[in-house]
This record gives sequence, C-alpha cells and structure tokens, in this order.
Amino acid sequence: MELRRLRIQNLRLIEQLELELASGWNLFLGTNGAGKTSLLEAAFLLSHGRSFRVGGQDALVRHGSSGYSVYGELETASSAIERVGLARNGGRLVARLAGESIAAAELMRHTAVLCFEPGSHELISGPSEERRRFLDWGVFHVEHDFLLHWRRYQRALKQRNALLRGDASGADLDVWDQELARAAEPLTMMRRDYFDALRPILAGLLRDLLAELGEPQLAFHPGFEAERPLAEVLAARRARDLARGHTSAGPHRADWSIGFETAPRREHLSRGQEKLCAFACVMAQAHLFAQRAGEYPVVCLDDLASEVDQAHQRMMVATVAASGAQVLATGTEEPAALAALGVSAKRFHVEQGRAAALL
Ligand SMILES: Nc1ncnc2c1ncn2[C@@H]1O[C@H](COP(=O)(O)OP(=O)(O)OP(=O)(O)O)[C@@H](O)[C@H]1O
Ligand SMILES: [Mg+2]
Repeated sequence: MELRRLRIQNLRLIEQLELELASGWNLFLGTNGAGKTSLLEAAFLLSHGRSFRVGGQDALVRHGSSGYSVYGELETASSAIERVGLARNGGRLVARLAGESIAAAELMRHTAVLCFEPGSHELISGPSEERRRFLDWGVFHVEHDFLLHWRRYQRALKQRNALLRGDASGADLDVWDQELARAAEPLTMMRRDYFDALRPILAGLLRDLLAELGEPQLAFHPGFEAERPLAEVLAARRARDLARGHTSAGPHRADWSIGFETAPRREHLSRGQEKLCAFACVMAQAHLFAQRAGEYPVVCLDDLASEVDQAHQRMMVATVAASGAQVLATGTEEPAALAALGVSAKRFHVEQGRAAALL
C-alpha cells in the first residue's frame, strides 16, 4: 500500500503541511530539528495510533494548540483510494475512514506503516514490552480475532491482580485462574504461529546482514513454562503471586529473542549490530505482511545513516529497494547508499516544519 497524500496539522512543530508522495522512495532532507522525524511520525500514527518516540500523545500536540490531525490518502492493492485520518482533540483520539468515524483499531487494520528509526535498537536491547508490541502488531494484522482475545486476557489479568492485592478468597482466585488460562490459549497460539512464520524470513535477513556472527538463533517465549498448562503454572505460583501482588506468569510476560552462534545473548551485540537486528525484524515483518496481504506496508526509515557503516547501509537500502515498498526516508544529508545503488527518490527539503519538493 502507498500513501499518495499526507496532510498534517499541529503535530510537533508542524502547523500545517500537505505532501504529495511518490511511489518508491521519498527522501526528506533537512537540518536537525527541521521536522523530518515528525513527518514520519504522522504516517506511523495512522497505523499505530501512537508514536514510535517516547512521550505519549501530549508531546505530539504542537505547543499552543489543542490537538493534532493527520489525514492520508492510501492506495491499496485493490487500487481504491482510502481516506484515513486520526485526530486528537481535547484529549480524545478520533479515527476516520472515508469521512466516517470508526474505532482506532479499525483504522489500524486498514493502514500498515512500519518504521526503522534511531531508537529501534530498543527492540533488541530494551524491555520485553517493545518486543511484545512488535509481535502483536504482526499478529493483529493477520488474525482478526486477536484483539478480542487480547482484551479478554487483559481483563482477566486485571481482575486476578486486583484479587492478589486485596483480601482474596481462594474461590475467586480459582475462577480467575481458569479464565486467565483459557484466554491465554488462543493468544499464545497466535503469537507462536506468527513467530514461526516470521522465523525463516528473519533468519534469512540476519544471515545476510550479520554473516560474521554465525547462524542466528531465534526463540519465542510464551511467558510461562510452556510444558505445563497455564492453569497449573498459576496454581503453583499462587503463594508467590500473593506475596508480590501481581501475576508472575502468562502471555503478558511473553518475549522473543535473537542470538547468534558467536553472540548468543543480546548483551553480546554492539549498538550497530542491535540496529541491524532491529532493521531485519522490521523488514521481516514487512515481507511477511506482503506474503499474507499481497502488498507491502509503507516503510519509514528515519535517519538510516546513524551508527551504521556504509557497507551495511547499502545492504539495508538494497533490501528495502528490492521489496518495491513505498519508502519515506529522512536524513540530514543525501545517503550515499542511494546514489551508489542507483535508487531514485522524490526529494523534499524540510525546514521549520515545512516541506518543499525539490525538482
Ligand atoms: N509538541 C511540540 N510543539 C512544538 N514543537 C515541537 C513539539 N515537539 C517537538 N517539537 C520541535 O519539533 C522540532 C522538529 O523535531 P523533529 O524530531 O521532527 O526534527 P528532525 O528534522 O527529525 O531533526 P533531527 O535531524 O535532529 O532528527 C524540534 O525542534 C522540536 O523541538
Ligand atoms: Mg529526526
């Protein structure tokens, strides 16, 4: 899918901006603080309802205004143009499709935008929450019931935790243990299936990008000892959970990991290697999305050049270019890898929250 047009109002320093985007590569060039990352954030918001940067919704709203809005015209494989929009006003998030107000999750189902950015190494070295989010975005786009199961599980988890903290009677906890275990089953199965499908694609990319580290080792961890049913695990941990006041095992603790023959743990990776792993994850997810949906998501590459050497930059650009995905990329300067590989791009000069197409 491709974003044909993007309109942004009151997002970070951008007061008002409208862009006509090209198929293939769109390159946003400008000095630090010009608003390049903010442009990518706008596209990302349409697909995730949140930014990839820390700071929450309020940080996105331009100082002095009451809310932001992002509007996009999305061309999909069926070649219909879909008008998608997300606005935040007075603390509320409103999603729109073809002018009609819809649930934010519905908008996210329509719009697929993936982003590799300077903070992406957190996917490897950061807390497990990042990795669950990554996994769940992919599952959400293939399994239509995923959100339903996820919400059911969250509700059960909240109830169980409340009981653990209060004066829980044994009977109530039994009920919520059962409910939690039942809700956990489809969630874990969907995540595992998704990770299994991602595994060969991700391994292939990691072999190419980080050949020097040897064979990649990828593992999914469901968040509890998978050899036993979760209900049993919860019963065995009850005393401990009561003492701690929260549930110590279950899909809310799920995680996955990347290791290599010569660097089995993530602590063994350099910063640049973490970034290359994160890039491989993003592109593996894009490839898998394309296999299932018949079209690529929009791929955002923020500051591709940071902390990655020239040879690896060329490999990254070649990987993305070969996919044929629409790309929104930023840089303070023209990335040498684009010219080296003969990748043509529509260029924009970004300055103080404005963007002008360069001829
Ligand atoms: N809520 C906000 N309201 C107004 N301005 C903001 C807000 N949040 C951030 N800014 C400003 O927006 C500007 C643009 O930030 P952005 O991260 O998009 O720049 P950039 O072009 O990506 O820069 P860099 O090359 O350093 O990555 C910064 O000067 C920042 O201070
Ligand atoms: Mg930036």
